[in-house]
Amino acid sequence: MAEKLAIVTIDGPAGVGKTTISRMVAAHLGYTCLDTGAMYRSFAWMLTRTGHDGEDLKKDPSLLAMLGNVEMVLLPPLPGEENGRVRLGGQVLGPELRTEAISFLASEIASLPELRRVLTLMQQRLGAKGRVVIEGRDTGTVVFPQAAWKFFLDATPEERTTRRLRQLRARGDMATSEAALLESIVARDLADRNRSIAPLVAAADAYTIDTTNLDIRAVVGEMLAHIGSKPL
Ligand code: DC
Repeated sequence: MAEKLAIVTIDGPAGVGKTTISRMVAAHLGYTCLDTGAMYRSFAWMLTRTGHDGEDLKKDPSLLAMLGNVEMVLLPPLPGEENGRVRLGGQVLGPELRTEAISFLASEIASLPELRRVLTLMQQRLGAKGRVVIEGRDTGTVVFPQAAWKFFLDATPEERTTRRLRQLRARGDMATSEAALLESIVARDLADRNRSIAPLVAAADAYTIDTTNLDIRAVVGEMLAHIGSKPL
């Protein structure tokens, strides 16, 4: 059997709380965090910034080389923020990566095998030394199948909508409606779960937690107990 790596993978659908949970688990273990969704979002952002869309990327492979050549550095969140920042070339991005438009474009381009190959390689390089908590959609199935601890977090679309809405309201966004948010979460679930390459699915050896009726501390507690019960 291949040797297990000191890596925690956390996969699950949009809005399930992976980012907050990753940071708490990583802080407890003294590991770093790797948010793979931020990397898909960064490619989506660069595409729009250069006046392109997902269709252009499908037609013109040279665009992918252009995106892959820009230096990408994942930075921790600023105090009081939840999501980390990304330095792309000389520019540091934060909230620009979190818009609905970027969420959808990221999900769209994430179905392109060539793009996934580039990002998967970058993720494997970044996590190669271990002691990392990596979160996304395929981190336990494709990126690090040899990870020692794999989790799949889920919750009903309604509960994930409620959580997202609470975050948005706390940030002063009173405009986004609950119905629109639910619709967008369901649409992204559908795209992420049904693509032919690296779809969102629990790894066969993942520990699945339905977080619908659990608070974050309970989820983190269950994860740490599982990790503690399976030493490397
Ligand atoms: O986790 P997130 O919402 O920031 O991810 C944005 C999109 O990126 C998501 O809808 C699908 C894609 N993604 C992916 O396909 N594989 C990953 N490992 C992470 C994200």
